[in-house]
Amino acid sequence: MNLRRLRNHLLARLIERRPSLFLRLKGLTQHRLATDADFLRVHARLVRAGDCVQRLPERYHLWALARAAADQPGAWAEAGVYRGGSAEIICAAKPVTTALHLFDTFGGMPAVAPGDGAFQPGDFADTSVASVRSRLAGSGGVEFHPGFFPDTADTPALRATRFQFVHLDLDLYQSTLAGLEFFYPRLLPGGVLISHDYGDATVPGVKQAFDDFLRERPERVTPLWLTQGLLIKLGHSMPPTAQ
Ligand SMILES: C[S@@+](CC[C@H](N)C(=O)[O-])C[C@H]1O[C@@H](n2cnc3c(N)ncnc32)[C@H](O)[C@@H]1O
Repeated sequence: MNLRRLRNHLLARLIERRPSLFLRLKGLTQHRLATDADFLRVHARLVRAGDCVQRLPERYHLWALARAAADQPGAWAEAGVYRGGSAEIICAAKPVTTALHLFDTFGGMPAVAPGDGAFQPGDFADTSVASVRSRLAGSGGVEFHPGFFPDTADTPALRATRFQFVHLDLDLYQSTLAGLEFFYPRLLPGGVLISHDYGDATVPGVKQAFDDFLRERPERVTPLWLTQGLLIKLGHSMPPTAQ
């Protein structure tokens, strides 16, 4: 076992066996995490796996927003899955009857534009549909859409789907813009779209895509700790009251 894996393994054991000590070391003794054993269990699994790009606050936001969406109608989606780390958090919060659509090439980054920072085509290639499918095997309702997004979303069934919860983690300008163009019109009123890297200056395409897409629309992005941006679809699903 190399040093990084050993460190991850020991930290995961600490979270599992001594959660209050872990929270004390993090300065989080007053936080509601202390009573959220389900979240700490997923967090420990991700620490052990060592392959999820979300950090603790970002994991918690995904978890908390997905849990809040769990009693609402509509499908869920993630675009930008890589090895399934963030999808594992979403699955842990998901009712078994809710559909979760996962979009990724599962073979690495597609073409990268000059404004996309240091990314290279083929980054994140050390994954596969089979490995992510096996990682999420305990969760029902998960549908895989491998290949180039948004081409993989261009089916009659997906075009007709309405979403309550969407996680974007696509890193690139064109991919993020395509995510907004596909999901925004299909997001239910009050539905949540959260993106990783919105506040990360080394991933400039993500904020640029939001800025460009929202210029003519009423919604605004709330920047979250550490890098995420949160968009809530305006409108309401109640029929207008009779005059
Ligand atoms: C940072 S990784 C996702 C990390 C994952 N959400 C996690 O938390 O572990 C970004 C992923 O976006 C995918 N991606 C970017 N643009 C894409 C596109 N147009 N179509 C399909 N996949 C894309 C890449 O293949 C890569 O796996």
